[in-house]
Amino acid sequence: MENLTLQLNRSTFGSPENKGKVLSKEKALALLDDWVKNEKLKVHMKQVAHLMKSYALFKEYDEATQHRWYLAGLLHDADWDQWPEQHCRKIIEELEAREIDPEIIRAIASHGPRYFGVDPETEMDKMLYAFDELSGFVHAYSLMRPEGYLGMEVKGVKKRLKDKTFAAQVSREDIRDAAERANISQEELIQFVIDNQLNADLA
Ligand SMILES: [Fe+2]
Ligand SMILES: [Fe+2]
Repeated sequence: MENLTLQLNRSTFGSPENKGKVLSKEKALALLDDWVKNEKLKVHMKQVAHLMKSYALFKEYDEATQHRWYLAGLLHDADWDQWPEQHCRKIIEELEAREIDPEIIRAIASHGPRYFGVDPETEMDKMLYAFDELSGFVHAYSLMRPEGYLGMEVKGVKKRLKDKTFAAQVSREDIRDAAERANISQEELIQFVIDNQLNADLA
């Protein structure tokens, strides 16, 4: 994905007037069904959405906030399936046209600072970046374990991270960088993913 054409070359997203405006869960899932045909990619977005919502709950944020976090996770890769060369410009423009809360749009715009050229600033930005690659990595690990998530340990995940041939497409550098920017240890993040990802609603 290291492609300079993905650089967004902008630093503001959405309009402050739209603060608090969201898509319902149903509408967001409908957008996903419409845009994303790749089932694995859909699973990825639902897992990240669940982690985001779980984290907002863990921080004891209110339900409206939890839903905003959920939406950022659910839609962050919505355009990747059909328009990879426009990732994540297309979903940003769609959410701007639908007058969605700028906080959500900004988080999506900063989920890959190396690719999009937008630094994660808010807590939502940083956590989306932190969960994105790690979620897929832990999921890949669960698929190769006979017991899935059951009994999974942080040290097992860390061992796989050191094995460059395992899930080779997952950027270890992004995982390290994201944890550092979120100011949360990799161990803590991995434990959170192990504890919560299992319960993601993939329907
Ligand atoms: Fe992405
Ligand atoms: Fe992603």
